[in-house]
Amino acid sequence: MQSDIGLIGLAVMGQNLALNIADHGFPITVYNRTTAKTDEFVAANRGTPGKLTGARTMAEFAASLRKPRKAVILVKAGGPTDAVIDELAAVFEPGDIIIDGGNALWTDTIRREKALKAKGLRFIGSGVSGGEEGARFGPSLMPGGDPAAWAELKPIWEAVAAKVDAATGAELTGAKPGKPIKGGVPCVAHIGADGAGHYVKMVHNGIEYGDMQMICEAYDLMRGLLGMTPDEIGAVFEEWNQGELNSFLIEITAKVLRQKDPETGAPLVDVILDTAGQKGTGKWTSANALDMGVAAPTIAEAVFARCLSAIKEERVAAAKSLRGPKPRMTGKVERAKVVAMIADALYCSKICSYAQGFQLMREAQKEHRWKLNFGEIAQIWRGGCIIRARFLQKITEAFDKKPRLANLLLDGHFKKTMRKAQKNWRKVIGLAVKHGIPVPTLGSALAYFDSYRTERLPQNLLQGQRDFFGAHTYERTDKPRGEFFHIDWPHPKRPQLKA
Ligand code: 2AM
Repeated sequence: MQSDIGLIGLAVMGQNLALNIADHGFPITVYNRTTAKTDEFVAANRGTPGKLTGARTMAEFAASLRKPRKAVILVKAGGPTDAVIDELAAVFEPGDIIIDGGNALWTDTIRREKALKAKGLRFIGSGVSGGEEGARFGPSLMPGGDPAAWAELKPIWEAVAAKVDAATGAELTGAKPGKPIKGGVPCVAHIGADGAGHYVKMVHNGIEYGDMQMICEAYDLMRGLLGMTPDEIGAVFEEWNQGELNSFLIEITAKVLRQKDPETGAPLVDVILDTAGQKGTGKWTSANALDMGVAAPTIAEAVFARCLSAIKEERVAAAKSLRGPKPRMTGKVERAKVVAMIADALYCSKICSYAQGFQLMREAQKEHRWKLNFGEIAQIWRGGCIIRARFLQKITEAFDKKPRLANLLLDGHFKKTMRKAQKNWRKVIGLAVKHGIPVPTLGSALAYFDSYRTERLPQNLLQGQRDFFGAHTYERTDKPRGEFFHIDWPHPKRPQLKA
């Protein structure tokens, strides 16, 4: 019997996704460069609902697949992905479909799709989010590429994706090996042509960087301003997880804060070194924001926060010589009140961060002529992925109401939230500044909000400066847009010149 689909790359994500596919009854052939891993994997997982077959060569792999062949690649992004695509292209036939489930840069996906099309092969670049657990029991999937190829992959991708409740958007949980979730709305949809899926996955990761850093700042404020213990802060996050902040990241944050170090018994967070690494998708998102000229400062600050954390030795030295105020609040402090203020600051900042992510996608779709469905994208993120959160339902509702919504901040629900919560948000940023606690994402989100809602920004002065030193010209408030002027600065009495 031939397999419905093949999968290449049996690292953690590959193994889990292969088992997920097999659990849904699809016969699947797996291949790994190191054959021993293939043999071990197949031997360890006999009796899956869909038969698991191991292939030892690419030719064997191709021969085992039903036509049009479908192969999912889950190897390291970059060179390894290109190498595997070349090997597949050598054994595949026109009409066959290659699916890259790695974290590819979307421009690579565009390039690969074009190159494969020239050979008659079809290519889908699919974002896969949710880590190991997601891959095994239901990831959030963001496929982009040829719609006809998508139609071939759709039944499998819809089966293996995370599922949410149609009415509430809440994720359906409780899948077990051999017992996947039945029913529900799958967290997958065709995102758009060529690199659209990987682009949206990249923005998802940028947003994830922002969410994580914002949560860290909220924790740091409770620790610094209020002197709360990790356990106490963990309890706060547990409570927040019951309300509008409900999300996977808030949930795991509470667990991380409650965890004790098995060696010393101390709270594990107190033992973990404060230097963060990164794999690049947050950086890609920020670099792309700069390239397109779209403001995504909160996401970029989250990346920079990791960069600053990484120079630990420099910071340790600087801490000895650069003095600032004491973090702890003094006098009569109502802890519950301050904690509630921090919750408001976190929620408002989160809205701004997502607003930036959606603005990026809006601009990118213009550049690449994609037709992105923003409500659907938020819906796909409701289950399976790292940024899954109750609040995404509000984003879906916002874009369902108004598909061409310019900015999330302009939606009725979010406007109301900002009106209610911004006073506390401002107080929190004020406290952070007063007590010298860094809040790069919470603070930049507020600056974003204030800039976005400001009719007249000081860039009038900036244009004056630019015209002064570089004759860059300016537009006038009393003339139509698109008419440019310049004055002869050394002789300002001379008439203004129209550029
Ligand atoms: P391996 O087990 O043979 O190392 C994650 O690294 C996955 O990508 C692994 O399954 C790994 O195979 C595979 N991989 C990495 N580089 C590769 C390459 N150049 N060609 C094929 N597979 C590769």
